[in-house]
Amino acid sequence: MAKRPYTPKDYFFRKAKESGLRARSAFKIDEIAGRFAIFKKGQAVVDLGAAPGGFLQIIVNEVGPTGTVVGVDLAAIRPLGRPNVKTAVLDVLADDFDAKLLEMHQGPFDVVVSDLAPKTSGIKSTDEARSLRLAGKALEISRTRGRAGGHFIAKLFMGGDFEQFRADGFTRVKVDVEVRELEEQIDLDKKYKHDVAVVVDRLVM
Ligand SMILES: C[S@@+](CC[C@H](N)C(=O)[O-])C[C@H]1O[C@@H](n2cnc3c(N)ncnc32)[C@H](O)[C@@H]1O
Repeated sequence: MAKRPYTPKDYFFRKAKESGLRARSAFKIDEIAGRFAIFKKGQAVVDLGAAPGGFLQIIVNEVGPTGTVVGVDLAAIRPLGRPNVKTAVLDVLADDFDAKLLEMHQGPFDVVVSDLAPKTSGIKSTDEARSLRLAGKALEISRTRGRAGGHFIAKLFMGGDFEQFRADGFTRVKVDVEVRELEEQIDLDKKYKHDVAVVVDRLVM
């Protein structure tokens, strides 16, 4: 089937606007939450690459007022007006990122979410490599800051070293926590049909 051209004002874009959601990607996290029953009231969640805040809007409702949601991005996130959402402008690849994240939230995260995506250069191999670097960092954060029994959700560009990343990445995670079940490629967004996998993993001691 021929790829549909990307139209920024497509159905989901309009639907997101009508629903007061900041990004069409909010539907993705909503579907993941529904399919895997990942979020629970009172949880602590970190959202990496959170601007403009579409995921955050869904996640804060999932964890409720007793939960804590931390969102970071290179771009500023307009306040959500919810006291239990903390956001910061941070580069996840910066040397001091881990320390800054710790300042924002000291405890473990029940769910580590990454929708980190590089600015695309148009050069496939460069874009894939950048995406993998970001995904690798997200995986590292899930390993160092994720709670055993929690979840890791990441959106990755397919191709390039993707399979290698999975092999290496998930093997490394298993050093600390065993990763089992729930790993799936979810085709939530037809635009990305062959390019993006959403990987959902459960972290178990
Ligand atoms: C697809 S958008 C995220 C959309 C978001 N999930 C939402 O629902 O509103 C990807 C984000 O990754 C961010 N990003 C890319 N590289 C980053 C980095 N090194 N550190 C922090 N954020 C980064 C971009 O600024 C961009 O906002």
